[in-house]
Amino acid sequence: MTAAVTAAVIDGKAVAAELLREVQARAAVCTARGATPGLAVVLVGDDPASQVYVRSKERRAAEVGVQTRDHRLPASTDTQTLLALVADLNADPGIDGILVQLPLPRQVDSTAVLRAIDPAKDVDGFHPDNLGLLMLGTPRFVACTPQGCMRLLAAAKVELAGKHALVVGRSTIVGKPMAQLLMHADATVTISHSRTVDLAAEVARAEVLVAAIGRPEHIQGSWIRPGAVVIDVGMNRLEGGRLVGDVAYAAAAERASAITPVPGGVGPMTIACLLSNVVDAAERRAGSR
Ligand code: GUN
Repeated sequence: MTAAVTAAVIDGKAVAAELLREVQARAAVCTARGATPGLAVVLVGDDPASQVYVRSKERRAAEVGVQTRDHRLPASTDTQTLLALVADLNADPGIDGILVQLPLPRQVDSTAVLRAIDPAKDVDGFHPDNLGLLMLGTPRFVACTPQGCMRLLAAAKVELAGKHALVVGRSTIVGKPMAQLLMHADATVTISHSRTVDLAAEVARAEVLVAAIGRPEHIQGSWIRPGAVVIDVGMNRLEGGRLVGDVAYAAAAERASAITPVPGGVGPMTIACLLSNVVDAAERRAGSR
C-alpha cells in the first residue's frame, strides 16, 4: 500500500499579502500625484455576512492607502434612491470605484442599479460593458473573485494551456467570468451547474477544478481526478460556526496536486483584487495608466 499523496496547499493569504504590497506602493504614487484612490462602498440593509465583508474591505483599504466612503442605507431603500446615489458617485471626481454590496433587498432592481454605475468606476466588473470587454478578451475591470482565482493559479505556476478546466457554477459574479478567463488562458473549459446530470463524471475529467456553487462540501474527494488542481471559491458557514468550502477538503487533498484551503484560499484574494481594481482606476485618473 502506498501512502496518500498530500496536495500542495495554495496559500491565498500569502499571495494576497504580496498583491496588497504592490497595491499599496501604486496607491502611494497616485496620492503623490494628487489622485488618492477613492472607493465608495454602498451597503443596503443589515445582512450580517455583508456587514462582515464590508468591514474587512474597509479595513484592508485603509491599510493600503485607499480612501473609502461609506454609504449605509436602510433595508427599506428603493431603487430610485439607489439610482440617485449612484448618479452622485458617478459624478464625484474623488471617487474612482463604486462597490454596491450584493445581495440587495428584494424590492430593489439590482440589475438597474449595477447598470447605472459608470463602467469606468465599476471595480466589481459586473457592468455589461465590462463583462462584454472580458468576453472579447480585452478586459477593463475583471470581477474580483475570478481574478483572484487566476492569480492563485499563476502563483502556483499551473500551466492552463490545453488543460481540461471545469467551472462548477454559472453565476455572473464568479462562474461566467471565471470560464472566460480560463478560456483566454487556453484551457478547454466546461461549465456545470445545478441542472448538470452527472457532476461526478464532469469533476473526474477536470485537470483544473474551480468550485463556486455555495453548497458545503458538495464535491466529494473521491470525484477528484488524481493530480488535479482544485480552487475552492465556496465559503459556507456550518451550524456550529465552522467555515467550509464547496469541496470536501481532506479527501480532495489526498488526490489533488494542489488545493486552496477554506478559509485562507480564495477569500483573501477577492479583497486584494478589488483594491487592485480601485488603484487601476485611480491610475487612469492620475494619467499614469
Ligand atoms: N457579494 C458577494 N460577493 C460580492 C462581490 O464580489 N461584490 C459585491 N459588490 N458584492 C458581493
